[in-house]
Amino acid sequence: MCGIVGGVAERSITNILIEGLKRLEYRGYDSAGLALISQGQVLRERRVGKVANLEQAVLDSQVTGSLGIAHTRWATHGKPTENNAHPHISGNVAVVHNGIIENYQELKDELEALGYMFSSQTDTEVVAHLVNHALKTAPNLLVAVQQVVPQLKGAYALGIIHTDYPDELITVREGSPLVIGVGIGENFISSDQLALLPITNRFMYLEEGDIARLTRDSIEVFVNGQTVERPVKELDATVSNASKGEYKHYMLKEIYEQPEAIQQTISQALNGNALREDFLKDAELDFANIQQVQIIACGTSYHAGMIAKYWFEQLINLPCHVEIASEYRYRTPVIVNNTLYVCISQSGETADTLAALRDTQKRAAAKGLDITTMTICNVATSSMVRETNHSLLTLAGPEIGVASTKAFTTQLAALMLLVLKIGQVKNAIAATETAEIIADLWHTPKVILDTLQNDTAILRLSELFVEKNHCLFLGRGTQFPIALEGALKLKEISYIHAEGYAAGELKHGPLALVDNDMPVVILAPQDDMLDKLKSNMEEVQARGGELFVFADEHSGIPADKERQHVVYVPQVSSLLAPIVYSIPVQLLSYHVAVLRGTDVDQPRNLAKSVTVE
Ligand code: G6P
Repeated sequence: MCGIVGGVAERSITNILIEGLKRLEYRGYDSAGLALISQGQVLRERRVGKVANLEQAVLDSQVTGSLGIAHTRWATHGKPTENNAHPHISGNVAVVHNGIIENYQELKDELEALGYMFSSQTDTEVVAHLVNHALKTAPNLLVAVQQVVPQLKGAYALGIIHTDYPDELITVREGSPLVIGVGIGENFISSDQLALLPITNRFMYLEEGDIARLTRDSIEVFVNGQTVERPVKELDATVSNASKGEYKHYMLKEIYEQPEAIQQTISQALNGNALREDFLKDAELDFANIQQVQIIACGTSYHAGMIAKYWFEQLINLPCHVEIASEYRYRTPVIVNNTLYVCISQSGETADTLAALRDTQKRAAAKGLDITTMTICNVATSSMVRETNHSLLTLAGPEIGVASTKAFTTQLAALMLLVLKIGQVKNAIAATETAEIIADLWHTPKVILDTLQNDTAILRLSELFVEKNHCLFLGRGTQFPIALEGALKLKEISYIHAEGYAAGELKHGPLALVDNDMPVVILAPQDDMLDKLKSNMEEVQARGGELFVFADEHSGIPADKERQHVVYVPQVSSLLAPIVYSIPVQLLSYHVAVLRGTDVDQPRNLAKSVTVE
């Protein structure tokens, strides 16, 4: 979703802006642009499509400057056209924006009445005009922005420059992510620190409502007009590991990184076959009091939450509810005393999840209820991590492919660690059972490595999907969410319509869809539900359906049956099977997408980090 890069330096920053935009490409976008201040002028280039188009335009026009802002736009208000691409200009002001100005129509009407002409259909252009207008009376650019911000409703991160302030970059953070990259004699802004990692590893994280003025040598942060201190944090070098390397796509690289990513995630919590004494130590008192868990998440992270529900209830007898954040935030859920609210989010910035969290915190405080909040997240510096009482990091490393893979399986590993920890604190699980599950967790990276050996077999299966328009994924128990996740992966990146179903629901509708042309993917680990699942497979075959089965090697499901393609998955404990069975559905989607020639890492219309609703 929209990405911002900006900077003020002594050197020309044109290439830094373009490189930064490239590193934000993963967020999803449909046009790109930049503006630089040079010799009292705003120089702007904008292009529809990829950053490479903008790069070529910049090369052709040779625009250069040492103060500038750049943007990748993911259309919300107005189509992806050059006119709608950012930066937007009013007089000598140029603005880039990530988020949505909800009251833009009202502001636009007022500005038009004052004689301002609009050249785009975006909500952002009002900000440029408002700043321009405020400057008619305000003593300087910073004050003008400070006067404009209270007029804006919605979510926004902004980068603002003006020709009369050739050494000043003003930035605002309210509801959309923004980070300041601290250099030596130069400073930068970006929606994601990843964009700035080639130039600095020192970052200042703005808080909601902060307005900052950056010059080459200074960073001042203001809240309600008063300066405030925000610490500068240094990132360790490993975070910068974000290139495709030998892989054709980030998604494939990230699929293959899963054994190591899971190893990292569990290593922080385990010591031999026990939980480390210091693991989530600060949360122990809170965990002792909780009576139930409410998980809130979106997309793939929601599927991880669905699996955790089985674990919380089966292993430690703790009631657990899971809900999609975009629904949760707009109904009036009952806030119950002694509930642990768990946000699951790769990015920690997803607008709906963050809003649901904040709303819950506000309502609990208003009623004097005792709740605990926690985030399971891949980004240590994210808003959610900062705003919850406790956090557990997934340590998967940067995930760039829009379709989530390693973030998902590490979320599952982290969730199992959380279940074990709460179970231990509440004395709800026997030490021997904990030790057995931990031994299985340690073994999981190896099982995944072995499962990855099936890559070529899955590639062969994927050839049979290329011409299909629809597909069903079926699973039972914790494989039901994996069926949903498999269907989500396939539709996200191959654009084949896919549905995931609990196999027991087959007769209640989806069976009507089954015919010669409907591939049905079955997730069949060795568990208590296997026999029931086999009956579902018979039902599909009796209607001419073609089965694609990911089955336990000891499941007894034959490979040589007509219209039944089987890939055997190495044996894994049934509890941890959802982690392992994620791998074949990821690989299947990946190969189908590559064969269909889609943009695997940046599928159309989708964004990695959904920072607006
Ligand atoms: C987008 C991404 C998904 C992700 C979802 C939730 O839709 O494309 O991969 O699962 O957002 O994001 P989060 O960062 O909160 O996990």
